[in-house]
Amino acid sequence: MKNKKKGISVLGLGKLGACYAAFYASKGYPIIGLDINQNNIDLLNKGISPVKEPGLQELINNHKAFIRATSDHGRLLSDSDLTFIILPTPSKPNGLFSVDYVVQAAKDIGPHLRNKKGYHVFTLVSTVLPEDSRKYIIPAFEKNSGKKCGVDFGYVYSPSLIAIGDILKNLQEPDFLFLGAHDERSREMVASVYNDIYNNEKSVEHMTIESAELAKISLNAYVTMKITFANILGHICTNLEQADVDDITNALGKDQRVGRKYLRSGLGYGGTCFPRDNYAFAAMSKKFGVSSPMALLTHKLNDQVWQRNLSTILKSAGKDKRIGVLGISYRPKITLSDKSQALFITQGLIKKRCKVMLFEPLGHEHEAIRILGKKVDYATTLPKIFKKCDVIFISNNDQMFTEIPKIVEKISAKKTIIDPWGMFTKKHFNKNIEYISPGRKK
Ligand SMILES: NC(=O)c1ccc[n+]([C@@H]2O[C@H](COP(=O)([O-])OP(=O)(O)OC[C@H]3O[C@@H](n4cnc5c(N)ncnc54)[C@H](O)[C@@H]3O)[C@@H](O)[C@H]2O)c1
Repeated sequence: MKNKKKGISVLGLGKLGACYAAFYASKGYPIIGLDINQNNIDLLNKGISPVKEPGLQELINNHKAFIRATSDHGRLLSDSDLTFIILPTPSKPNGLFSVDYVVQAAKDIGPHLRNKKGYHVFTLVSTVLPEDSRKYIIPAFEKNSGKKCGVDFGYVYSPSLIAIGDILKNLQEPDFLFLGAHDERSREMVASVYNDIYNNEKSVEHMTIESAELAKISLNAYVTMKITFANILGHICTNLEQADVDDITNALGKDQRVGRKYLRSGLGYGGTCFPRDNYAFAAMSKKFGVSSPMALLTHKLNDQVWQRNLSTILKSAGKDKRIGVLGISYRPKITLSDKSQALFITQGLIKKRCKVMLFEPLGHEHEAIRILGKKVDYATTLPKIFKKCDVIFISNNDQMFTEIPKIVEKISAKKTIIDPWGMFTKKHFNKNIEYISPGRKK
C-alpha cells in the first residue's frame, strides 16, 4: 500500500534526533534527516544507528526503508513540510543556554526556505530559555529567508520530556506533550501529527512559545528539587534511629499533591539535562528580576549527596581494603557519565589512594572507562568483584544487580555492601555481610 503520510525532517541526528528519526519512521512518516557530521549521515543511510540508545538499532532495522539522511538543506525542505530541530544548546558560563547552533541552522536553511512555495513548520525540540525563540531564532529564519513567520512559514516550540536510556520508551509513552505555537496554522500542523501518533490519547498542552520555554525548564528544576528533598529525608533518617526513609517517601508519594516518581532516597541526580537545566533555571530567573536561590541550593545539596556516600565508603573501608564500585553511569543502561555521582565518588576514592575495582554492566563501551583509564581495576563479572573486594558500593539500581544476594551466598569472607538505593534488606544476606543502606533500617 502506498504511504500517504507527509514527510518529516529532523535537523540534528544526535542522541535525541536519531531517536526522533527512527520513532517517526516507525509511525509511517517518511523521514529525511540532516546533520553537519557526515559520519552520522553515512551511518544512518546504511541503516546503522549513529548513537547508542536501547532499542534504537532494532527500530532502525525495522523501518530503514523510511529513513534517509542528507547534508543538503534543500532536500530537507523539499521532502518535508515539518522539521524537528534537535540541535545542541550548550550552557554558557553564566548558566544560560547558547542558541548559536540553532541560529546557524536558520542561516543554512534560509536561502532554501526563500525558494519554498508551501508552508513549512519548524518545530524546535532543543532546550532553550524564555524569549530565545522570539528574540533570536525566529528573526534568524526571517532574516535569512526574507519570509515572515506566521505568514510564509511556521514555528512551534515543543520540547521533549525524555531521559537518555529511555528515550524511545518516553517518546512512545509521554505523560503529555508541550506545544507552544507561534500561530494557528503551525499549531494545527504539529497537533495533527501528535494526534495521529498518539490517537488523541495523550494530552497536548497548548500554550504560547514563551510558556512552553519556561515550562520545560521549570519541570526539570522542580524534579531536581524533589529528588533532593528525598535525599535530605534519607540523610535525616541516617541520623535518626528507628526512622526509615522508604516508609516515609512511600507514604508521602501516595499523597496526590506529591506523587511517587523521583521521590526515593539514593544518589543525587546527574546527566546531560538535570544539572544544567536546574542551573539555567536560576540564571533565567535572575534575568527576569527574580531571585531563585532554591535552584542553586538544590545544586549545592545535590553535591553533598555523593560527598556523604564517599565518606560512608571511606569509613567502612578503613585502610588497605579493596573497594568495588558497581555501575558508573548516573542511571542504568547508559554509556554516558556526565555529572555522574558514581564517577565523582570513584574519582574521590582514587584521590584518597584507595584500591578501586569497577564493574560496569555495559562493559568497555562505557565512556567512564576512557576517563578512569588505569586508575582503577576492572572486573568483567559481578562474582569477580565480590571475590576481590571487601567493600562494595552499588551506585545504581541496574536490573543485573538484583543477582547480588545469590552471588554473595557462596562467599564466606566478611564483606560490606553499601547500597544508597535500598535495593535489598538485611534479610537478603547472611551474617558475613554488613549491609548498609543510608536512611534505611530494614
Ligand atoms: N539527550 C537528551 O536526553 C535530551 C533530553 C531533553 C532535551 N535535550 C535537548 O535536545 C538538544 C539536543 O540534544 P542531544 O543530546 O540530541 O545533542 P547531541 O549533541 O547528541 O546531538 C546534536 C546533533 O546536532 C548536530 N549538529 C550540530 N550543529 C548542526 C547544524 N548546524 N546542522 C545540523 N546538525 C547539527 C551534531 O552533529 C549532533 O549530531 C539539546 O538542546 C538538549 O538539551 C536532550
